Amino acid sequence: MKYLVTSALPYANGPLHFGHLAGAYLPADIIVRHKKLIGHRVKFISGSDEHGVAIMLNAQKDKIDYKKYVDGWHKEHLELFKEYSIDFDFFGQTSSDYHEKEVIRWFNSLNEKGFIEPRESEQLYCKDCSNHLPDRFVEGECYECGFESARGDECPKCGIWIDAVKLKNPVCKMCGSHNIETQEVTQYYLVMSKFHSNFRDWFKTKKESWKKTVYPFIDSLTAENLHDRAITRDLDWGIDVPLAEAKGKKLYVWFDAPIGYISNTKKHLEEIGSDEDYLKDWWKSEDTKIVNFIGKDNIIFHGVIFPMMSLASGIANPVDDLPANQYLNLEGKGLSKSTGWYIDAKEAFNEFGQDALRYYLIHLIPETADSSFSWDNFQDRVNGELANNIGNLVNRCLKFWAKNWKDGIDSSQFKGFSQSEFGSVLKDSIRANTDFLDNYQIRRAMEEVMTIGHQANNFFSEREPWAQFKTDPDKAAQTIAWTSIYIMVLSAVFGPYLPELSGKIKSLFGEFLDDDLIKDIYSGKISALEKKLVSMNVVQLAEVPKVLVPKIEDDQIAVQKEKLSKLDN
Ligand code: 2FM
Ligand code: ZN
Repeated sequence: MKYLVTSALPYANGPLHFGHLAGAYLPADIIVRHKKLIGHRVKFISGSDEHGVAIMLNAQKDKIDYKKYVDGWHKEHLELFKEYSIDFDFFGQTSSDYHEKEVIRWFNSLNEKGFIEPRESEQLYCKDCSNHLPDRFVEGECYECGFESARGDECPKCGIWIDAVKLKNPVCKMCGSHNIETQEVTQYYLVMSKFHSNFRDWFKTKKESWKKTVYPFIDSLTAENLHDRAITRDLDWGIDVPLAEAKGKKLYVWFDAPIGYISNTKKHLEEIGSDEDYLKDWWKSEDTKIVNFIGKDNIIFHGVIFPMMSLASGIANPVDDLPANQYLNLEGKGLSKSTGWYIDAKEAFNEFGQDALRYYLIHLIPETADSSFSWDNFQDRVNGELANNIGNLVNRCLKFWAKNWKDGIDSSQFKGFSQSEFGSVLKDSIRANTDFLDNYQIRRAMEEVMTIGHQANNFFSEREPWAQFKTDPDKAAQTIAWTSIYIMVLSAVFGPYLPELSGKIKSLFGEFLDDDLIKDIYSGKISALEKKLVSMNVVQLAEVPKVLVPKIEDDQIAVQKEKLSKLDN
């Protein structure tokens, strides 16, 4: 089986926050690293989403050219992903030519098959600033749930796709005016209604496997019918509608964005000089599993509209798994870019580094319900769990090794672990980690990895190697050898979660712990590790560990809380 794993294309429109990381990027990165360690072929694809009204508004506000504006944010996001080790195979841009070409292919295909039609429709128009007001150019009260600041494209509260002309008390976002009228315009529609029964036939196959937060939501939205949707706009930024009679019109951002998964895969294969075909070998291949990581606000597009576009055009297979996440809050309140209630992920990285933040954010992946970031809890978890359970163990054990066995430990001391009761408990935990990850239960899976840390700690402290050393140095050597096996295993199983820490631990042991051996360990073959160790005669440490997981100090947390309290007032 091959995997195409995607993370929602972030808008090139402002900083990414922890909600984005925990919701779509970190979970995807973990699953990708996991699948790669198991030995599957995986492509991890995403890119910047660079069209749409929100971007236009902000670029206009900043008085900069649209393309320059999105290029700037694209670069910023790439840097952030690097800092957090979100390791895409390809991260492209929807304002690029290769993307436009692919989007036109989709439009033409859907058009030829009768799924696109011009229709007269009503659109809002601001009489004060003379602008058409699609999507986020207008706000008003949601006609479904009553939320006051629903946008012209969607309601952030109840998640429905808004028909802007139905908004109550609409206000123009360009000039703030309420002087808005409705005008008749021609737009092109995606005729989803024609595809209703085909869509339902496909969708029902997901009943058992999709999350309880995803399947029933889509089920109730699509049980009766599929609504036709306008997929063009009268704007000056976006991909031109490829029809002579549609001069001046652009494609709606949500029509072009998901095609980015496919165009970016094509571009990636070209860039690495692959002779594989992006469709035949990946997006249309029966051997490929397509997994879209998204936040809950993107469910309709990934669970309804894009699968319809894929199935109706026949260009790509529809999504197989849609592990959508709920929202991450900050100290109990919803994160918001516009009100500034978020933590700058870059600043946080500079202060605390990747391991601590990834560790805590993994605990917070809102897999089944909303979760909340709190600085106190961050400190407690990092210090109490990661530093205590893992960092200290590695330090205590390997420093003791370095001090007492300068010329290495006799390899026979490593013998017997994999067949022992300790080895068998350990293998169960490794298997549980894999099973949970295969099920996208990432939080639960990482708890399993932490239990390996507990097993190692218990083993180490119960044996008291410092006492053993005085009476029976050989016994102490075995304790250190077996604890080190646990530590090598930790290095392997932390790979998907904390790649930096995993690499640091691995390098303490030197070259014999190579990538192939790590893959064996990851798959639970502890005997392969033991065999390798025993074959070495003497096992020597490559480095003496330094502090692996620095403690988070109270004053560091106080500074962060102080920053938030200023926002709160
Ligand atoms: O909601 C968002 O942030 C969108 N930019 C996600 C797009 S996902 C995809 F389909 F391109
Ligand atoms: Zn206006």
